[in-house]
Amino acid sequence: MKIALLPGDGIGPEIMAEAVKLIDFLVKEGESIETETALVGGAAVDAFDDPLPDQTLKLCLDSQAVLFGSIGGPQYDSLPRPKRPERGLLRLRKAMDLFANLRPAKVYDALADSSTLKKDVVAGLDMMIVRELTGDIYFGEPRGIHTNEQGLRVGVNTMIYDENEIRRVAHWGFQAAQKRRGMLCSVDKMNVLESTQLWRDVVIEVSRDYPDVKLTHMLVDNAAMQLIRQPQQFDVIVTGNLFGDILSDEASMLTGSIGLLPSASLNQSGQGLFEPIHGSAPDIAGKGIANPLAQILSLAMLFRYSLQRSDLAERIELAVEQVINQGVRTKDIARAGERVVSTSAMGDAVVNALQRQ
Ligand code: IPM
Ligand code: MG
Repeated sequence: MKIALLPGDGIGPEIMAEAVKLIDFLVKEGESIETETALVGGAAVDAFDDPLPDQTLKLCLDSQAVLFGSIGGPQYDSLPRPKRPERGLLRLRKAMDLFANLRPAKVYDALADSSTLKKDVVAGLDMMIVRELTGDIYFGEPRGIHTNEQGLRVGVNTMIYDENEIRRVAHWGFQAAQKRRGMLCSVDKMNVLESTQLWRDVVIEVSRDYPDVKLTHMLVDNAAMQLIRQPQQFDVIVTGNLFGDILSDEASMLTGSIGLLPSASLNQSGQGLFEPIHGSAPDIAGKGIANPLAQILSLAMLFRYSLQRSDLAERIELAVEQVINQGVRTKDIARAGERVVSTSAMGDAVVNALQRQ
């Protein structure tokens, strides 16, 4: 099994170190896992003046899976856009054709109190957002800022999908629902936007292949509201790149902390990139207080989706649940008065739980 490790910026390297502890432990148990580390994001801009250097891209394309930390930081925000860390990630997603982004949001019983929402609204929540990741307004042309004939500056982006892009991610949505509670909600804005009218039409066409899945449709503004009103109604949501970006951050807060949520980005051949959905959190970087669980759970998804090792995925997920049930808490998930552990102590606790299984 060959995994590329891209720690990135901010808290990325700290949380990656904890996932690596798990990999080292599994290797000691006898698994053959080969890893290679490369620079990406701001770290790569600093070293090579490029957020996605050729050698990093090549390593990723040659690996079965990429474990990605996080990228970005205020010191890079004024760089020209092609040099910005975020552009490196977008280029990598595009180059690997990682069109299907799975973002599960699950509330652990022991943490139902940590959400900013009332416990009875979020308790037991277990949903997944399937976000299209290589199209939409993120990549559409024309784009840019120019000056028009009247001398006014104009900012332009293009929201665009072709039917193939919609169809392939819709299949992922239906298949995810089949493995779960059999409900798929497709989110669009078809009352205003033509590109999302096509989205709805194509999702309905694809639904004919999945008579066992109950398909519903929701406008994105309503979906944003329903997610905090009654999130339990959702099993799987499938949506475009922009709406999925926004709704998945919203869904993450239902679980109490964005520091808990992993994600998988996959292409047609099962190769994938696995990353926490949180960012590089520059404000807490280097302090040893970041929560490594989203990174560790991303490693679990990597084993499940790209390496076909659901057994290892389940062991890691169980170990995380055990550690949470034991009351081990990083700052982001601790309630007033609870003892707080460091990033590294949280990683050690997960390794110990694995060892005891
Ligand atoms: C995410 C992030 C990225 C995105 C940024 C860092 C480009 O917000 O993965 O959700 O918008 O896709
Ligand atoms: Mg986002």
